[in-house]
Amino acid sequence: MLNVNALSIVINGKSILSDISFEAKDGQVMAVIGSSGAGKTSLLRCLALLDAPTNGAMTFGGAPISEMQAGKVGIVFQGFHLFPHLTVLDNLVLAPLCHKKDTKATLCEKAHALLAQFGLHDHAGSYPHSLSGGQKQRVAIARALMMDPPILLFDEPTSALDPELVNDVAAIIQSLRQPNRVILVVTHEIRLARQVADQILFLDNGCLLDNVTKDVFFEATSADKSVLSPRAFAFLSNLT
Ligand SMILES: Nc1ncnc2c1ncn2[C@@H]1O[C@H](COP(=O)(O)OP(=O)(O)OP(=O)(O)O)[C@@H](O)[C@H]1O
Ligand SMILES: [Mg+2]
Repeated sequence: MLNVNALSIVINGKSILSDISFEAKDGQVMAVIGSSGAGKTSLLRCLALLDAPTNGAMTFGGAPISEMQAGKVGIVFQGFHLFPHLTVLDNLVLAPLCHKKDTKATLCEKAHALLAQFGLHDHAGSYPHSLSGGQKQRVAIARALMMDPPILLFDEPTSALDPELVNDVAAIIQSLRQPNRVILVVTHEIRLARQVADQILFLDNGCLLDNVTKDVFFEATSADKSVLSPRAFAFLSNLT
């Protein structure tokens, strides 16, 4: 279970995230939705320990995330952030090698198996510039999986891709569900949220306004105004 309690980030006096609290059960996929600037990426960066919260606590299985073994939070960045000067294989083994997770031979074996799983077995020696957007993304996902992360974060996984690939991304995220893993997906792509999420977190202006099941979020009608925040209703009405 991932537990986020009263998380806040203030930068230069500006509140980026305010008092965010939620739980994600093992095996759950949560979609994080909200308009541009709502704080979605900031929340993922905090969970991935790339940014330090000003206040609050984040635990997984009762232990502070900051004390978890390095690499136990995997993040797939919006722009993939592959190292351009390294081959696909070296992109995958770099972090686990640095963390001395295993021998190079074992890590290479694991990397090849992951690349095969994502249909990239022919690209182990390729450089990122020679890959399509969809291939780069699958490399980024394979790289995030090298450390077997129980927390897996995706920031806008479809934004740099052909819209036709949304179903492929949804299928990949579904395939990464595990009983002992929590997945958070920041997305503007409502089709993706509908396909993969169990729960929806709706952020606005750094605040978590709604934490509801996918069905409540997407089936809510203006007849029952109590189930969602007015801001979420306004957001949803702009989608149709
Ligand atoms: N390092 C930083 N310094 C100052 N302000 C920041 C910093 N990082 C984020 N912000 C601000 O925090 C707010 C939330 O940014 P964030 O990137 O989390 O939004 P987002 O919901 O991911 O938006 P988008 O959908 O456009 O990606 C924005 O107003 C942004 O300008
Ligand atoms: Mg963002």
